[in-house]
Amino acid sequence: MRHLRYIASVLALAAGLGAAAEDVEMFAYAMPEGKSGLRLAWRPSADEPWQPVGNGYNLVNSDFGAWGSHKKMFSPKLMQNRLDGRWVCVWEADPAGGVTAVAYSPDLRKWSPQQYYSSTSDIPRDIFPARPLVADSAVVGDVKVAGYRQSVDRAVIDDVSAWVAERERRSRIYAETCAGDADRYKGLEPFAVKVSPQPDGAKAITDKLIGIFFEDINYAADGGLYAELVQNRDFEYSAADRGGWDAMTAWSVEGDGCTHILADDPVHANNPHYISVSAGAAGLSLVNSGYDGIVVTKGERYRLSLFARSASRQKLDLSLRTPDGKVIGRASVTVRPSGWSRCKAVIKASESCADARLVVTLRNGDADLDMVSLFPEKTFRGRENGLRADLAQVLADLKPRFVRFPGGCVAHGNGVDNIYDWKGSIGPLETRKPLFNLWGYHQSRGLGYHEYFLFCEDIGAEPLPVLAAGVPCQNSSCPSHHSVDKVTSAGQQNGIPMDEMDAYIQDVLDLIEYANGDVTTEWGARRAEAGHPEPFNLKYIGIGNEDMITEVFEPRFRMIYDAVRAAYPDVQVVGTVGPFYEGTDYDRGWELARELDVPLVDEHYYVSPGWLVNNRGYYDGYDRKGTKVYLGEWASHMDGRPSNVETALSEALYLTDLERNGDVVEMTSYAPLLAKEGHTQWRPDLIYFSNTEVKPTPDYYVQKLYGNNAGTRYIPAALTADGKDADVMKRIGVSLVEDEAGDLIVKMVNMLPVAVTLDVDLSALGIAAGTYSAEVLSGDPAKTDAVPQPASLTLPEAELPAYSFAVVRIPRR
Ligand code: AHR
Repeated sequence: MRHLRYIASVLALAAGLGAAAEDVEMFAYAMPEGKSGLRLAWRPSADEPWQPVGNGYNLVNSDFGAWGSHKKMFSPKLMQNRLDGRWVCVWEADPAGGVTAVAYSPDLRKWSPQQYYSSTSDIPRDIFPARPLVADSAVVGDVKVAGYRQSVDRAVIDDVSAWVAERERRSRIYAETCAGDADRYKGLEPFAVKVSPQPDGAKAITDKLIGIFFEDINYAADGGLYAELVQNRDFEYSAADRGGWDAMTAWSVEGDGCTHILADDPVHANNPHYISVSAGAAGLSLVNSGYDGIVVTKGERYRLSLFARSASRQKLDLSLRTPDGKVIGRASVTVRPSGWSRCKAVIKASESCADARLVVTLRNGDADLDMVSLFPEKTFRGRENGLRADLAQVLADLKPRFVRFPGGCVAHGNGVDNIYDWKGSIGPLETRKPLFNLWGYHQSRGLGYHEYFLFCEDIGAEPLPVLAAGVPCQNSSCPSHHSVDKVTSAGQQNGIPMDEMDAYIQDVLDLIEYANGDVTTEWGARRAEAGHPEPFNLKYIGIGNEDMITEVFEPRFRMIYDAVRAAYPDVQVVGTVGPFYEGTDYDRGWELARELDVPLVDEHYYVSPGWLVNNRGYYDGYDRKGTKVYLGEWASHMDGRPSNVETALSEALYLTDLERNGDVVEMTSYAPLLAKEGHTQWRPDLIYFSNTEVKPTPDYYVQKLYGNNAGTRYIPAALTADGKDADVMKRIGVSLVEDEAGDLIVKMVNMLPVAVTLDVDLSALGIAAGTYSAEVLSGDPAKTDAVPQPASLTLPEAELPAYSFAVVRIPRR
């Protein structure tokens, strides 16, 4: 056989066909139980062992189905199509069958968006394998796997092996952490870096680099930023929100009588359930335990409101009670005989308590109750239905230039029926539609679109609402009301049906009218009714959230984009380019954005500190003229998902590069923002909190230092150090910016285990040497509670301690 191949190659050469082709055997497979993507092995001939291509490297992963382990690949058939030379991979995507997936690749590196078929008869017919496939099994490493064997040109294997080896090399570098620094930088002594500003190369950069991304994840809204103290105030919790929950979750009943949850003739159809109370002679009390207790402060006033209905005049006693039964505040309301009416009272707390209960007592008789609500009077900026003051303040302290809301995955939802409908989140509270939160709980939506707009206004940030692009989360597990088969029941395949898209697009346009329309317009009038006749001046609207850029996504995005552009040319659409910094969705998303001239796209990547350290030039090659970048979700992730000095410094370092690229990266937001201790679905987060405490992370302080020291003009600077190689220099970052007042801000990051003296040539900027006030964040890389400290730094020669980030502001003279 080898002999024949040799003769064939000699003949080919002799025929002048170029380099001889050498055939080898290639084996394509996925790991048992579908637990991998497409893998390759090869062998020079049938009597030699199979060699894996890479170390468990997946050339393409199945994107079909719900989150994580549901995405499986069975029996991949990899073929080179003799019609066009493209590779095509066809696999089963569901263990029980019924879903066939197809993806194409020109080179086994880049893959097309995947297509899914419920019937094999729908699979494209124009696939003609250039080489026969033989079903076989192979031992690869220690594992016996089933797959398909074929012969290929050796060059195919060499090419893909070299590429995979490079990918794996990069992954190893990206896994570097500071824990290895003692070895990596053994013998490194403190040294000096010359920083040479190049004012001639100064350029204008964005004034919106630092913003926030608010998503109701980790109890960020109800039980978090939203200051409501009563949990399940509307009796709308159910097992659909979380197994074991029902309309009485967080409520208990004490005393004499009975209660029923009813749904006939409710306060509003969107809020169908209420509690009907019949009190016996000794009276009956409803007790709400809040979100892990109700926090009240001595001397503070709390606004209580509820809807009540009774056939006879009734008195309701309202009290705050400590866990041991002491009443620490009371009030009462009278329910008059009529239909539903809203009753209000104020309760003043006579003592502080972190675990109080709200008790609503009916002395005797019958009453129906709903929307039982308790707010501190002292909300952020004193707004009724407002925000928890300490949490909102810590967000405001970041000086964010914009707020993206309401998610993330929450925005596009778990299946089409769970897409966040903004209209259901506005208007009087009792008319809002509660919504299942795909992070596993319930959204009252008391914090809805109107409140998000108000918050933006209160903190001087641009609102950036994100609406689904007509498709739900790519990890959806819920079929929609129009799912017809397995393909349309899973993942992102069940986009809003085309005949419902017009209505959906109208909703998107209506949102812009709600924000910007004058009070004579339908939705502008609704805004005015909510107490805000002035427009909110919406300038941005996000369409889509890290979606797969597929044949389901694309037409829907185009339709929405075209409609917004036609109706509101001044509102900038922010498109989406998938959940990673590369790959199919990133590539296709960017192609689409360029084709449609989308003003901005939202990039997402959660990466290791090593990735950030080793990709500092990520944006340097981006086209400056076309579509701009909104880095809408990013964070440094380490094993165990801590927030520590290492994650914070890697972000600070990368932010020097984002500032340098502030002419193409318009906006950034760390994600997620908030996490309630004990109710966290995702780590790390920027700010942790409990009912009584707010705990910013070191990463928060990095965002804050950048947010409070933003510039609008970037001054490039060259960094040089005698005898130091790129592996050392990549851990030092300097960014010089000027703000609108003309102050020079110098940000310096040292992610090395030794002190570094930065010799900043201020004379190039006409600035005298001097001692300037600074803030320095530093500490052991594993330290989780580092806080920036005020310091004085003398420039031009500033010594930066090991593992530190310093910001110096030099006032304009
Ligand atoms: O930030 C948490 C989640 O990460 C967001 O909801 C989603 O967009 C991303 O996958």
